[in-house]
Formats: sequence, structure tokens, C-alpha cells
Amino acid sequence: MLYKRMPIEKESPEEIGYDNIKYNLSESSVTDIKMSELNLSLNDLKLEYIGHRGKAELRQLIVKDCNNLNKENVLLTNGAAGALFIINTSLLTAEDHLIVVRPNYATNIEVPRTIGCSISFIDLQFEQSWKLDSQKIAAAIQPNTKLISITSPHNPTGMLMSEAEINEIILIAEQHSIYLLIDETYRDTCFKTPYPVTATKSKNVISVSSLSKAFGLPGLRIGWLITQDEILLERFLAAKEMIYISNSALDEEVAYQFYVAKEKFATSINQKAMLNFQLLKEWLHKETRMEAVLPQGGVICFARFKEDLNIDTAKFYNTLLNKYQTMVGPGHWFEMPDSYMRIGFGWTDDIVFKQGLENISAAMIESLN
Ligand SMILES: Cc1ncc(COP(=O)(O)O)c(C=O)c1O
Repeated sequence: MLYKRMPIEKESPEEIGYDNIKYNLSESSVTDIKMSELNLSLNDLKLEYIGHRGKAELRQLIVKDCNNLNKENVLLTNGAAGALFIINTSLLTAEDHLIVVRPNYATNIEVPRTIGCSISFIDLQFEQSWKLDSQKIAAAIQPNTKLISITSPHNPTGMLMSEAEINEIILIAEQHSIYLLIDETYRDTCFKTPYPVTATKSKNVISVSSLSKAFGLPGLRIGWLITQDEILLERFLAAKEMIYISNSALDEEVAYQFYVAKEKFATSINQKAMLNFQLLKEWLHKETRMEAVLPQGGVICFARFKEDLNIDTAKFYNTLLNKYQTMVGPGHWFEMPDSYMRIGFGWTDDIVFKQGLENISAAMIESLN
């Protein structure tokens, strides 16, 4: 495979350097947690090779509320990104076709593209409130379609599909005997997803998630995939073993101890994000040069300059970062025009967030043609 770096990763805040960004509104996760907040007990941990599927107790906890699933349906991976790579490379070849929603987290598009698959994009529209029309998916099916790939709650828009909408897509996958990959990385993030993990619904569904976004643990690199199909899981395990054998013993133990106590953190994480969400709504109300469909999931909003605004977008992003030390996720991270931007409201405190929004307004005024 001929790898090419994705703009969302190449230009990410951690690559630019966190110290160069005072107002970081580009993150799609909640505030990163420090080890000292976790009250861990790690001294007896042996840094040995560990079970390749991942720590059994953690896998069991992940599906605790899923009636028909148990730990054998879960494979721990190196973040959700690791799961997406394993699934795409295990299921797809250059002869295969897949259907993928756009905009999207880049990995969901770039991995199949790098494999050489033919891709039908389902382009979501601002004007349709970023809603996914399942009929478009049905119409895009071809004889060599192997996979439908969707994300809900959605990055970068924060849109949440309803259970009925998801059921329609599952039916399409079942009718054609193909897989539905649903990236649910944002399902536990602040607005609670009001239905069970989608993999509980059908043998054709593969769910992906991680600890990164909802809990602020992206540096742990712990994610997972879930499937009812244990033979398929064995295939994914083969891929994982070829790439990195197992996760890190240290990461898994920290993840497990965190997961047992995770509810202790949820309230304050939620309050902080919801306070910022309120600030975002107030800013969007008064900032009449911008518009957005308000999110229903995640801690992200995909706003845009109003169409009649004549703005030099290159100057805008340059001014925003270099003069105002403020960063948002530009549209091109998601194969969209740079008049769109992803604003993350879960990561910073309210004072920083509010100033970051004011900085967007200031950089916008300075970049008008
Ligand atoms: C939709 C989506 N899936 C997966 C990932 C990767 O997350 P992780 O840190 O769990 O690898 C991201 C990260 O931005 C994402 O937005």
C-alpha cells in the first residue's frame, strides 16, 4: 500500500505543537486526563506479552449493557483508528467497491482509497441538516460492493442517526449480504446515544469505538471493534497480530482501571462541554456571518461562513493561528471547502473557549475581501 499522510493528521495540533496554540478549538475530544487524576495502582503490573484479543475483563465491561454480546465479540485495538485500519484492510481488496459517507474522519476514506477500492461517496449536505438518506446507499450498491461505512454520531458535524435510520441501512446490508461498518467513536460523548451499540443488532454490523473522544484518553491508544461474527473477529485478530501482536500491557491496564471508575468522571466532563456548547450557541446567534446545524452528538460543530461572505480563507486560517494563536479544524481536513470549519467545544475551559470564538470573529473581519 502506498501511504500518504492525511491533512487532518499532518496539520494536527499535536504535530504543530500544543504550545503554539493558546486557543485550541480544533480538538474533537473532551479535555485530556492526567495520570495523577486516575488514582491507578500499577506497581504489580508485569510488562509481559498479553492476550492478543485484549484484557478479558475490559472487553466484558465494554459490552456489559449489550444483552446478546460477550467478551468474545470484542477485539481491543490501537485506538479506533487501529480498528478502522484492521477492518478495511481485512475486508477490502482493490477489486472491491464500498460506499462511504462524506465528509468523514479521514481514515474512513483514505484507508479504502489507499487499498485501491472503488468508492461511492454519499455526500451529506448542510442544507439537508447533514442527514443521511438511506435510499442513496441502496442506489449505490454494485455487484462488487463489500462494505457500507458510516459514522454516527458523525464527525465533523455531530449529527446523530436515529435508530430507525440505522435499521434501514442494516436491512440494506443484510439484503445484499455485505457488512456495515459503523464508526461509533463519539457514542459516549456528552449527548448520550439513545440506542444500544449497533453491533448488537445484526451479524452484518461491525461497531468501532474508543476511549479517546468521550473520556479524554487519546494518548492511551485504546479502542475496539465489536462484531457478533466470531469467525470474522478471528480474521481481524489475524490482522492485529500481524501489525502489532497485542496492545500494550500498560495501556490496557490503565484503560481497565479507568473504565471501572469511568462514571466518576462523566458528570464533570459533561458539565464542562455543555457549558461550552451554550457559549457556542450564543456566539452563533450573534455572529451573523456564520451558520451551523447544531450537533446532536460528540463535542463538535461544523460551521460555515455564510455564502455571500467574500472571505480569503487562506488569510483567515493564517491570521487565526499566527496572530490569534487559535486553531479550528479547516474544511479540507474533511474534503470540504475551507469556508467550513469544525469547532470543538469539549476540550478547553469556558474562558479559553469564549475567547477562541471571539478570535474567529476577529480573524474573519480581518480576512474579508
Ligand atoms: C470518527 C472517528 N473515528 C476514529 C477516530 C480515531 O480515534 P482514536 O483516537 O480512537 O484512534 C477519530 C479521531 O478523530 C474519529 O473522529
